[in-house]
Amino acid sequence: MSGRIPQSFIDDLLARTDIVDLIDQRVKLKKAGKNYQACCPFHNEKSPSFTVSHEKQFYHCFGCGAHGTVLGFLMEYDGLEFLDAIDELAGMHGLTVPRENAHSSQTPQQQAAAKAIRQDLYAQLNDISRFYQTQLRQSQTAIQYLKNRGLSGEVVKSFNIGYVPEQWDAVKRQFSGNNEAEGQLIEGGMLIKSENGRVYDRFRDRIMFPIHDRRGRVIGFGGRVLGDGTPKYLNSPETPVFHKGRELYGLYEVRQAHRNPERILIVEGYMDVVALAQFGIDYAVASLGTATTPEHLQLLFRTTREVICCYDGDRAGREAAWRALENALPLLQDGRSLKFVFLPDGEDPDSLVRQLGAEDFGKLLDEAQNFGDFLFERLGQDAMAGDAGQHELANQAAEAILKVPEGFSREGLITQLSRQLNWGENERRVRELFSRLQQETKPASTPTRPKSKKIKLTPIRRAIALVLQYPAAAASLQTADTEEVALLPLAGIDLLQMLLAQVQGQPLMTTAQLLEHWRGHSSAPALARLAMADELFAGDQIEQELKDTFAVLIEDYFATRIEALQQKSSQGGLTTAEKQELMLLLSESKAGRN
Ligand code: UTP
Ligand code: MN
Repeated sequence: MSGRIPQSFIDDLLARTDIVDLIDQRVKLKKAGKNYQACCPFHNEKSPSFTVSHEKQFYHCFGCGAHGTVLGFLMEYDGLEFLDAIDELAGMHGLTVPRENAHSSQTPQQQAAAKAIRQDLYAQLNDISRFYQTQLRQSQTAIQYLKNRGLSGEVVKSFNIGYVPEQWDAVKRQFSGNNEAEGQLIEGGMLIKSENGRVYDRFRDRIMFPIHDRRGRVIGFGGRVLGDGTPKYLNSPETPVFHKGRELYGLYEVRQAHRNPERILIVEGYMDVVALAQFGIDYAVASLGTATTPEHLQLLFRTTREVICCYDGDRAGREAAWRALENALPLLQDGRSLKFVFLPDGEDPDSLVRQLGAEDFGKLLDEAQNFGDFLFERLGQDAMAGDAGQHELANQAAEAILKVPEGFSREGLITQLSRQLNWGENERRVRELFSRLQQETKPASTPTRPKSKKIKLTPIRRAIALVLQYPAAAASLQTADTEEVALLPLAGIDLLQMLLAQVQGQPLMTTAQLLEHWRGHSSAPALARLAMADELFAGDQIEQELKDTFAVLIEDYFATRIEALQQKSSQGGLTTAEKQELMLLLSESKAGRN
């Protein structure tokens, strides 16, 4: 739709933002030597291994391997997409995000216009939400309806619930002053244009629930009829700003109430979220009339460690729970938990919390079924009795368990499986089953976080790590220092050369800025690991260390090449060119050593 964001703008954003301040506002940091520390917000731990470096403008957890720049942090912690994280930072500094023309056929004017429309659409939706709230205050019928449903004025206000009167043009009249505004309202799903060109309000005579994105902008609505009409709920269609599979009703409100919610409950309906909040269970969200998608779960696990899915106790509810479980398996790394609550027949969280009260409802949540138990219960029911059934169960369970990232959770499930199968002590059988399956399904790699393995610092890696970690020192090298090493036909030299060119072009770059230049590149993960490598033992003479490392690289190369040529010479002789090369190498390497 719009062009790329210029790298220079991203550099600028990173230069203006201090990662220590930004993270400290979300996770309290303590100074520890040169760095800052906290318990990692991305996994469960008791002693702090989450480290933030002011100098590098980079964070890294030695426990779970999470790492990144301030942009990466906003994406992981606040659950933002890359572009939203950019927007967020730009907003903090009062900057507008510029766009390059590169991959777009639009002119800069058109791009600006498209962006303005999107901005306007947010503004319009926000205004419409306010308008609906005003209309609610003026409708006795609507107020009475909400009262009859047991909602307090307070909770109605905190969810910005509104009402739209029974008119074909309430929004149209108020908000589509010109063609442009009307077009935008159609695009935003608020107005409908019929085939014969008539334009009218989508929502009429409904209680209106505004849906917010993670940043609190209104992106759509759900509207409930007051009586028994159909559809009971009408939702905004997919629009440029509203994507059902990606949004959860109430998540913004949960984040308002809790910076770090301990758990989040997924329920089915708007009314459930609101009623639960009224009873103090202000950590529920609803998927918007769709099944729980992997994106939903990913989003929730970025926000909390424990997700409890609340479903009807009937067959459909259990099917929905099963699908959610299947989607969640790859996300269930250690420290995360997924649980299920099945509701009694004919009840939903709204009716149940009113019946039981907050405390007993809370007990229901405390007793929620762990995903492992649900998994085995379900598979146990599926498997037929007898040995064939056992075999089937073993295979199915193992297949599911293999989707769980390696760790304690997976180990626990394996033990649970062997117990379930009555293979008891004989865990060996289970292990065999797993290694067999693992071979069959090798490429099914799970999106688990790579543990921060110690990498072997070869000379080339050491050179790259030094440039990444000390960009200013690398920038002060002279051409004479680097030109020779740049010619070596070694793996990684290209990368080193590009990095050197980058820091020399921008000598004030931080490690974070440098890494952001490589976002999405196939070498990015390797570079991030080298940026974190803490076994560099670099002193304060980084420039000299770089030169020394280059010298080692050159020496190593000479030595290998000389050996190869000498061997060839003893086996069958060298070409004239090779002879010359060998002589040159020998004299150079002697000269180098003296
Ligand atoms: P329910 O039919 O269970 O309604 O739909 P509810 O949440 O209990 O609502 P109340 O208590 O009768 O007011 C659950 C959810 O499914 C979606 C909505 O998101 C709703 O909250 N839904 C339902 C629709 O999108 N359209 C419909 O017509 C019905
Ligand atoms: Mn209900």
